[in-house]
Amino acid sequence: MPEPIKVLVTGAAGQIAYSLLYSVAKGDVFGKDQPIILVLLDITPMMEVLKGVVMELQDCALPLVQEMIPTDKIEEAFKDIDAALLVGAMPRRDGMERKDLLAANVKIFQEQGKALDHYAKKTVKVVVVGNPANTNAFICSKFAPSIPKENFSALTRLDQNRAQAQIAGRLNVPNNAVKNCIIWGNHSSTQFPDVSHATVTKNGVVQPVAEAVKDDHWLNNEFIKTVQNRGAAVIKARKLSSAMSAAKAICDHMRDWWFGTHEGEWVSMAVPSDGSYEIEQDLMYSFPVNIKNGKYTIVQGLKIDDNAREKMNVTMKELKEEREMALAACQE
Ligand code: NAI
Repeated sequence: MPEPIKVLVTGAAGQIAYSLLYSVAKGDVFGKDQPIILVLLDITPMMEVLKGVVMELQDCALPLVQEMIPTDKIEEAFKDIDAALLVGAMPRRDGMERKDLLAANVKIFQEQGKALDHYAKKTVKVVVVGNPANTNAFICSKFAPSIPKENFSALTRLDQNRAQAQIAGRLNVPNNAVKNCIIWGNHSSTQFPDVSHATVTKNGVVQPVAEAVKDDHWLNNEFIKTVQNRGAAVIKARKLSSAMSAAKAICDHMRDWWFGTHEGEWVSMAVPSDGSYEIEQDLMYSFPVNIKNGKYTIVQGLKIDDNAREKMNVTMKELKEEREMALAACQE
């Protein structure tokens, strides 16, 4: 058995964590023979609820969990961690403006960035889920200068999974027959779900999704809107935000980062831009990436037409605006 790794989940008493922790604890993310120490951070008023979550995890009697550390202390939570799943954030309250929410949450990630800098292993892999996820990840990295910026990411895998499922449903094929859907940009309604490089295997034949769908109008309109607004649609129906599917996407994201992607396939992750595809350097922008030996590289050379360029710029503009608001909030 390898040495245990230390995995931090924040927002551990929340909705997403309730679905996420079981999968992490049973080895879906870091492997079936990798023992883990689970560190569970939430705020002080949630400690009683967190106790219940810990009891349930104990009662799952899972072989890989060596220890659980429930805590409301940031210095304890971030100590020597190998992976950070940063889910915890303040939910939007009635009457709260988007920018107020952004300011409140950005400060959480400023503090957690500093904690990563001080206490975590320098090799820690960080995925930010709490919204606004891309901008929170940007701030987190900024306040953790001793950790390579490539170690920070934000979750757009849920959007990718949604896009894949919409295409598979439309073509009446299994979800895994659809490959290489891309999410460009922000995890928000400005994101650009792009299937112009995606393929589908139908009746044993691999073909471009656009050829198989044969309806450009649907692909350029309804499909994009459905994916962009899927989160809101789930909230409307469930009266609660996507938790099960978000948890699944977090597992997909971190598992692929840990173990790598399959040859010829890519996945979408929000990562610091290196200037690829004319996206401003250092913006935490979602790109298609290949992953090998724990390191991702942005897929190069994809053809971007005018329509795609325009959509990629819209979401870049939003990210730049969020970044300015976030940096201002950090000064307050
Ligand atoms: P939730 O409200 O059920 O749970 C959030 C938890 O975070 C609560 O237990 C809360 O006490 C805790 N928390 C708040 N401040 C904290 C802090 N400073 N440190 C540690 N914990 C803290 O919310 P849910 O449904 O679990 O969602 C969590 C976040 O994920 C939200 O911001 C949501 O918008 C976002 N989200 C992101 C998605 C993505 O694809 N990037 C998809 C779905 C949700």
